[in-house]
Amino acid sequence: MALRNLRYEDDPILRKKSRVVEKIDKKLQTLIDDMLETMSDHEGVGLAAPQVGILKRVAVIDVGDGEIVLINPVILEQDGLQCDKEACLSVRGVSARVERPTYVKVSALDREGEEFLLEAEDYLAVAICHEIDHLDGILFIDKMVPDSDNEEENEEEE
Ligand code: CO
Repeated sequence: MALRNLRYEDDPILRKKSRVVEKIDKKLQTLIDDMLETMSDHEGVGLAAPQVGILKRVAVIDVGDGEIVLINPVILEQDGLQCDKEACLSVRGVSARVERPTYVKVSALDREGEEFLLEAEDYLAVAICHEIDHLDGILFIDKMVPDSDNEEENEEEE
């Protein structure tokens, strides 16, 4: 396993759409291992392949309940609305609130290529949506909502 270099927000690769994975081979296993190690090394809760310069639909997540590998993830269902602060290893020094569903149902392949369904709520749902956005060239800063609490500090109440 090896650490991979992170790509940061001005890198055009983060704005490209990743390709569907068609072959689960040794090279892909190495990529997954490296992504897990890189995520852990940076104390991240998620990492998508474009963040290490690879335009493949692969993401890894660990919100504290174990590692999840998502290959070709697709959101089948979503419900609810939450708005919490997010950050991203590729966007240094920024955290901002983003609207996300409170529940998602996702289909994906695991690292052996077996299809599985994952139902997620709350923070895990946020992480999944954030990582899938990366696979479509979207960063959380594209979706951030104004932090009204901060704005009110500088404005008189109406
Ligand atoms: Co991110």
